[in-house]
Parts: sequence; structure tokens; C-alpha cells
Amino acid sequence: MPTYNLTVNNQAVSVDAPADMALLWVLRDKLGITGPKYGCGLNVCKACTCLVNGQAVSTCAIKVSQVANKKITTIEGLAGGPDGTVLHPVQRAWLERDVPQCGFCQPGQIMAAVDLLSRTKNPTDAEIDAIENMCRCGTYGRIREAIKAAGAMMT
Ligand code: FES
Ligand code: FES
Repeated sequence: MPTYNLTVNNQAVSVDAPADMALLWVLRDKLGITGPKYGCGLNVCKACTCLVNGQAVSTCAIKVSQVANKKITTIEGLAGGPDGTVLHPVQRAWLERDVPQCGFCQPGQIMAAVDLLSRTKNPTDAEIDAIENMCRCGTYGRIREAIKAAGAMMT
């Protein structure tokens, strides 16, 4: 079985995995990082969204062999500060707006929002609505408000 070197949440890791294993399962089953969620496994729901080199990616739809030597960020690696307890502005906005209901989709929603705000701090409603992450609890209104609030915090 091949070995792949990745940087996950700023830590260098090596994993032995089949080349076609989805990154989602490397994160969850080999590394015990369970923030990225399994919803559909079909690149539809986006509950598994993480950042690969800063870009939002459905980790169920990308193979570990495609992310060798790349930088992966999951919800667990988003907070900063010397001890990793300073929440990212998107996380703060999510808490302030009380966005989650069941919470299942929210790690993916937050990572998609971080990607969007890395490209624009003042996204339009259309840009926010272009995020394809599904929420069965229907929190879209509060997600939109929180993204705008986070963008304002980041300017
Ligand atoms: S689990 Fe990856 S898109 Fe649904
Ligand atoms: S908060 Fe329940 S699926 Fe989004």
C-alpha cells in the first residue's frame, strides 16, 4: 500500500492508504478527524467540505493520491492563536448568529464560507447562494447573515 505525505491542519502526516481512497476516509478513519461529515459520498451534499491548498473541496470526491504533498485544512484546524483557541471570524459569526440547528452540515458550510471570504470580503447574495452546501435544517438565511458578518470582521 503506498504512503502519502500530507499536511493536515499544519501538521505533517504520513498515511498508508490505497491510491483511490477518498480523502474523507483518510481524514476520518485513518487520522480520526471527524469534522468533515459523510452525507452522500457523491459530491452533492458537500457535508465533507475541507480546504485543499485553501480551496473548498468535497473530500468524498477526491482521492488521497490527488492530494499528496498538499495542505489540507479541516474545521478542526481553523482556529488560530498560539494554542489554537482563537476562533476564526467565520466561526465567531456562526456562534453570534446561532446558525446551526442539528449541526451536521455546518463544518462543511463554514469551510465553504472561509473559501468564499478568501476571495471576497464583501460577497453578494448571489455569490453566497452559489455555495452548493446543502442544509436539511434550512439554515440558509442565517448562513447568509453570518458570512456577511464574518466578511465585515475580516476587513
Ligand atoms: S459526502 Fe461529500 S458531497 Fe456529500
Ligand atoms: S444544520 Fe442540520 S443539516 Fe444543516
